[in-house]
Amino acid sequence: MNDGILVIDDEPMILELAALVLESRGYEVFQALSGEEGLRLVAEKRPAVALLDYMLPGMDGMTALRRIRQNHPETYVVMLTGKGNQEIAVELMKAGASDYILKPFKSHDLLERIGNVLRIRRAELSNLELLRERECLLKEIESWNLELERRIDEKTKELEAANKELLVSEKLATLGHLVAGMAHEIRNPLNAISLFAQVLQSTEEKGSERAGCVDKILQEVDRIDGILVKLLATSKRSHFAPEKVFLPEVAGRVTEVFSSTFKAHQIRLHCDFLPNLPRIMADASEIEQIFTNLISNSVQAMVGTGGDLEINLFHDDRFVHLIISDSGSGIPPENFSKIFDPFFTTKEKGIGFGLSVVLRIVKSYGGAIFVEGAEGKGAVFHIQLPWSRDVGEMEGKEALSSDSGAGIQS
Ligand SMILES: Nc1ncnc2c1ncn2[C@@H]1O[C@H](COP(=O)(O)OP(=O)(O)OP(=O)(O)O)[C@@H](O)[C@H]1O
Ligand SMILES: [Mg+2]
Repeated sequence: MNDGILVIDDEPMILELAALVLESRGYEVFQALSGEEGLRLVAEKRPAVALLDYMLPGMDGMTALRRIRQNHPETYVVMLTGKGNQEIAVELMKAGASDYILKPFKSHDLLERIGNVLRIRRAELSNLELLRERECLLKEIESWNLELERRIDEKTKELEAANKELLVSEKLATLGHLVAGMAHEIRNPLNAISLFAQVLQSTEEKGSERAGCVDKILQEVDRIDGILVKLLATSKRSHFAPEKVFLPEVAGRVTEVFSSTFKAHQIRLHCDFLPNLPRIMADASEIEQIFTNLISNSVQAMVGTGGDLEINLFHDDRFVHLIISDSGSGIPPENFSKIFDPFFTTKEKGIGFGLSVVLRIVKSYGGAIFVEGAEGKGAVFHIQLPWSRDVGEMEGKEALSSDSGAGIQS
């Protein structure tokens, strides 16, 4: 701590005297003959205490005191006043002086007063420092709290998402057992109904009303069988046959199957497959199912309006990414959490299986699926499937990029 003392007095004798007394006690002393010079020295030397004469020519003592206290609050001021000026002394104390000494003063009196002010100053400054530290600590605690809250929020959301996934997989597992048994039980009598109906069909006169009824029975039986087949696909992995699968090839196969549908509904297909995509170890029919289910949802969302269907494939260090987006009716965000639930559908003739099958397959490969979009603004499905370097040797082909604008399927 700087214990320099600045004496400001227009009488050189007083300056000399005060300096002598103070220096004898080891203080560093600066001297100024006017208020102006005093202020300059305060700014330059930052003394701990200024001993300031009240009666100064030019800038008076009161003004100098105010300026020092305002601009350099760490410099404490002790005023020198003449006898009979007690009232003024009170004013000076109010204006920020720490003490006053009556002229003429005794040297031990001066030392004692200065010593006291220095002690008080040290205590006050260290209090101030403690308060500042406290303030800093409080701010730090506040920002830790905010960070903690943010992390708790983040973890809570992750936990909720994980719980939800768990719930869906539990639902799927339960459904799996139920469905496998049910499908088996239902398909036997269904088969019998179909056979009896076929017998009836062969005995009825073609084109008769009864023959028409039998046809309808057979159609409905087929529909039920179709649903059962879908149910089985949702719930269990039938013949898992892993091989090295090249996703652009699968995409090509599936979009080829859909080509006439695209044409019929004025859907323009845009494919953008980045070059050198790694192969993944998977069952090709399951990967086909992912494409089929997502594309058929997109087609259904664009029926009547036509639109654009985009398929993107690219990869990073860990995943092959598939993004299928359409310009169809879109999905309201409040449905995002439901669309993967088995049986959730907004379609009159939907069953609500497509996406739950996709989810089951993607999860079984350790992948993930995300959905984006808004009602009326189309839907975007983003799937990531892990690939590993041992199986995923790069396909050294050129970029398989096509666009219906360039004359590919539409
Ligand atoms: N591309 C899309 N655009 C708009 N809505 C979609 C899209 N894909 C899925 N959905 C919504 O998600 C729901 C669930 O889809 P999911 O494929 O599981 O069942 P579904 O298509 O209704 O019936 P299923 O696939 O069994 O025939 C749909 O009913 C629809 O509301
Ligand atoms: Mg569907």
